[in-house]
Amino acid sequence: MPIIFHNKTKEFHIYNDKISYIFKILANGHPGHIYYGKRLADREGFGGMIEYALRDMAPCAFEGNSTFSLEHLKQEYPAFGSGDMRFPAFELERADGSRAVDFKYQKHEIYRGKKKLPGLPAVYVEDENEAETLEVTLEDAQLGARIVLSYTIFEAFPVIARNTCFYCGGECITLLNAMSGSLDLPDKDYEMVELAGAWSRERHVNIRPLGYGIQSIYSLRGCSSHQFNPFLALKRKNTDEHSGEVIAASLVYSGDFLAQVEVDNYDVTRLIMGIHPNEFCWELNPGEHFQTPEMILAYSEKGLNGMSQTFHQLYRTRLARGKWRDKARPILINNWEATYFDFNEDKILALAQKAADIGVELFVLDDGWFGKRNDATSSLGDWQVNTEKLPQGMKRLSEKINEMGMGFGLWIEPEMVNKDSSLFRGHPDWVLADSRRNYCHSRNQYVLDFSKPEVVDHIHGQLRKVLGEANISYVKWDMNRSFSEVFSNGMNRSWQGKVRHKYILGVYGLYERLIQEFPDILFESCASGGARFDPGILHYAPQGWTSDDTDAIERIKIQYGTSYVYPLSCMGSHVSASPNHQLFRYTPLETRANVAYFGTFGYELDLTALPGQELLEMKRQISFMKDVRELIRQGVFYRLKNPFENNSSAWMVVSEDRTEALAAYFRVLQPAQAGFERIRLAGLCADWEYSVQEQCPGGTSKPLSREINVCFGDELMYAGLSVSDAASGLYGVAREKQGDYLSRLFRLKKIH
Ligand code: DGJ
Repeated sequence: MPIIFHNKTKEFHIYNDKISYIFKILANGHPGHIYYGKRLADREGFGGMIEYALRDMAPCAFEGNSTFSLEHLKQEYPAFGSGDMRFPAFELERADGSRAVDFKYQKHEIYRGKKKLPGLPAVYVEDENEAETLEVTLEDAQLGARIVLSYTIFEAFPVIARNTCFYCGGECITLLNAMSGSLDLPDKDYEMVELAGAWSRERHVNIRPLGYGIQSIYSLRGCSSHQFNPFLALKRKNTDEHSGEVIAASLVYSGDFLAQVEVDNYDVTRLIMGIHPNEFCWELNPGEHFQTPEMILAYSEKGLNGMSQTFHQLYRTRLARGKWRDKARPILINNWEATYFDFNEDKILALAQKAADIGVELFVLDDGWFGKRNDATSSLGDWQVNTEKLPQGMKRLSEKINEMGMGFGLWIEPEMVNKDSSLFRGHPDWVLADSRRNYCHSRNQYVLDFSKPEVVDHIHGQLRKVLGEANISYVKWDMNRSFSEVFSNGMNRSWQGKVRHKYILGVYGLYERLIQEFPDILFESCASGGARFDPGILHYAPQGWTSDDTDAIERIKIQYGTSYVYPLSCMGSHVSASPNHQLFRYTPLETRANVAYFGTFGYELDLTALPGQELLEMKRQISFMKDVRELIRQGVFYRLKNPFENNSSAWMVVSEDRTEALAAYFRVLQPAQAGFERIRLAGLCADWEYSVQEQCPGGTSKPLSREINVCFGDELMYAGLSVSDAASGLYGVAREKQGDYLSRLFRLKKIH
């Protein structure tokens, strides 16, 4: 897994056994991109892949060499205003307004391992032999400023982790744009894959062909957003889930972002990713530096599943951290959809007792336990227990829940404030809004100015007290609104350009302090469901609430899309009531569980209102989940059939040693006289024999029909597993597994 510098050709070759990433120092001293893709054998020179030929009648040519134009060269970290007319990776301004820059190679360093990015989330190594890092320093001699481009390659993953750091020289500079990385690709024959959506419809897969000009996704909402995810992939037209090339970029960041692809008029594709430049304006004084977030570039020649499996393994094992990274996650009950704000201690204890009886391991008390909060109009910011609702306090409540044999978890929304709160009354200037004007509320709440350390300190003090006083083993950290009129009251002009990034650094800082103080707590992130479901937050909270939409049928699409980047170990998924509270749809309990198993499993409904038969079925579901949860958390996930294109869909998870698997099939509507249907499984060992058992409602298992209850891996993968309906010629016959919103679950085990 070396990084090689070829001194003669001034070329860097970063490679492991799967990928090569190559660039060189061009004649003008700027780094020029050569290649990113499937591994190439190392050789002294790759310069033959550089195309110097000019286009256009009069391109901007480099002084003294009319055959050298940045306009037509592939670059590593392009600037604006040096002859390249495309959208730049960075832009900065001097005090006199000049934006011309000339950053040239100064030196480089190659070292084992990977450095941390102070204050920012990033992938990491546990042993320095897992990865190697290259840092290339570019210098603008006039400014004395330096840019350090950093590249890490892991032995085990086909990824390059990139980040960029700007160092001010003797002269003050202002960064107007500072992307984490940039990648110029030699053609435009790609389709752009993105995850798009809305509240309760997060991360739907959207694929579009590349066209000339700019196509981008972004967030300017202060969080990564429901609307787009900080992920973008470029796939070849024939690439599908199982085969073909993909280059994907994922930003380890939770704030405003830009992910952009530009196709120039000579068919070159430029991908850039980083903090959104809108409202970003970072002044640097001598001695100061600015560190960008990290961008992960992944390459797959095994289709979109190959790409996702890389992200899953990297993010599950080398981005998530802490005690819970490698632990089985507790099966929980959350009271939100069971009670909303309308609860008291008796109601909570009754719900908890029912949950304990069926085997639930963790009780989560959601919104409404603090201040005088009985609806969404008050008390955010006042993190003291509401003793009218919980007269014995949080400590006693947590003890009572513990006595039932369950852990106790709590919901918080630390970044927000209601006007009806002691916090707001005492500190109206702590709101992130221009307090001289009208500013928007959202759900009656306002964003606290986390760019100010004193605000973060104050919230930290309150939370440390709450978390320290009761037996709390889990925290759900919510964030329920977008930014609007962003302004940091009382701060100067230079501060305002930094506020949005400083805010998210404040969030990361508070998470870090709480993680250090309460290392045993399992944090789950949330932002009105999945508005901050991104790699950055995964570094602090190893699981996240995937979506407020708990409807099983909608969840198939949401979880399918989310799995493009995020491992099942971080996807919060709960069984909720039927009819569903978001879509009013009736779905079988079996299907609700079959979808929710593929994530961090839990329940979110009023168990006290359910018939005994359903509770019994849930009890069996829980014992089944306890049996398979480690397979689901750590297994290799395959998407098998796409719910965005079909009435039926399927996915599966296979243990790393391929001896075990769990496959799920979902069908939205029952067709009349359904055709025969098979699902081709994946990831099994072709010549091993597997027992195939279909899980029945209630979680018991019975063998499939005799003929196929033992199958070879090659049969299951190449001929497929039959999911056809049983014959339905006679009324009332073979109805057991038919109807709308049907799902089927198959457990496979290698026969020894
Ligand atoms: C939004 C979350 O996504 C829900 O799960 C719930 O916690 C509510 N907020 C509470 O206000």
